[in-house]
Amino acid sequence: MRKQIAAANWKMNLTYKQGEQLLDDILEERIALADHQQVIFAVPFPYLIMTSSELAGEANYFAAAQNCYHKKSGAFTGEVSAEMLESVGIKYCVVGHSERREYFSETNAMLAEKLDLCLAAGIKPIFCCGEPLTIREADQHNNFVETQLRESLFHLSAQQLGDVVIAYEPIWAIGTGKTATTEQAQEIHAHIRSVIAAKYGKKAADGISILYGGSVKAGNAKELFSCPDVDGGLVGGASLVAADFTKIIRALS
Ligand code: 13P
Repeated sequence: MRKQIAAANWKMNLTYKQGEQLLDDILEERIALADHQQVIFAVPFPYLIMTSSELAGEANYFAAAQNCYHKKSGAFTGEVSAEMLESVGIKYCVVGHSERREYFSETNAMLAEKLDLCLAAGIKPIFCCGEPLTIREADQHNNFVETQLRESLFHLSAQQLGDVVIAYEPIWAIGTGKTATTEQAQEIHAHIRSVIAAKYGKKAADGISILYGGSVKAGNAKELFSCPDVDGGLVGGASLVAADFTKIIRALS
């Protein structure tokens, strides 16, 4: 059974103390996860170790980085490598979030390098894809996302792909309160899975978790997660509020 995942992306929000309090509030709910369920917190770099230690002993809860650099090591002041993340015990890293693509000019080719470095370091990438509004309006979203997958992901072996989580996040739904409908989410998630099946076979495609991101809220999570090809969510704003994020965790199937 493939993993169902509620992933929080804090982005550049919360102070250290606020982050610690948020984790405490969420963990206090003592939500027991089934073996196939996971909760992941993608937090700012300075909070990774605190987050890991808060989650120590909590089965199926993990800390994640929000990014890593696309080179192995060297004179890249201010950057953080996949190997560094692994060295402090991190198991997941978000790769290719649309905000990184847009504000930091990350290309599909750079993201392919990041995926390689994460996997070489033993870190599972949460690979983000998704189209802007103009592409959706032109009804080109399936092709657009397919190109993102081909150019960043499809050089991986089937075994490597088994360690990747995909997050489909339509840019027009991020932080806008405008969520994709369940029909829109299911349609493109099924398309992503079919493209993976064509390249890697049905077994690989059936095993990969595809999360939906873009205005996931306490009130719509259950409906979105009930789509057969939606395996949970990558959540921004609503992950900053304990009462909301715990409802989203509970919405996992
Ligand atoms: P929102 O949930 O705030 O729309 O953000 C989604 C997102 O970008 C998660 O990575």
